[in-house]
Amino acid sequence: MSLIKVLNFKPLGDERGDLVALEELVDIPFVMKRVYYVFRTERGVSRGFHAHRNLKQVAVCVTGSCEFVLDDGENRETITLDSSTKGILIEGIVWREMHNFSDDCVLMVIASEHYDEADYIRSYDDFLEIVNAG
Ligand code: TYD
Repeated sequence: MSLIKVLNFKPLGDERGDLVALEELVDIPFVMKRVYYVFRTERGVSRGFHAHRNLKQVAVCVTGSCEFVLDDGENRETITLDSSTKGILIEGIVWREMHNFSDDCVLMVIASEHYDEADYIRSYDDFLEIVNAG
């Protein structure tokens, strides 16, 4: 089974332009507690490099593109996010990295919990230990 769970959102645009609506428990498969967005990322900068103990997230590049790497400790997969109508669902203990942000990239992330530093696993070795412990 692929590590990458793609969500396709319905385009509601018309001749005036584009529109996408994301509803809790309809388009986003969890209760939404937080939204954040990453933008104006400097060239050559990569972000992420962590996993979460208990968090679900949906990531969408609303403008521009970036590359997402997901790693469950056994497999490592990459996807390019380059569409405002395509998101990925990240759940479970998965290491994530974001690379190759385009200059115009606005990466929006919808999360199931408020920000909690204690939920982060920021060391890859700790991540592997936790995953291997089951
Ligand atoms: P960080 O998790 O390092 O970002 P990324 O994983 O995208 O590289 O977050 C950068 C800073 O922002 C860090 O000090 C924590 C803070 N932050 C919040 O306060 N709330 C949030 O929802 C997020 C995602 C980060």
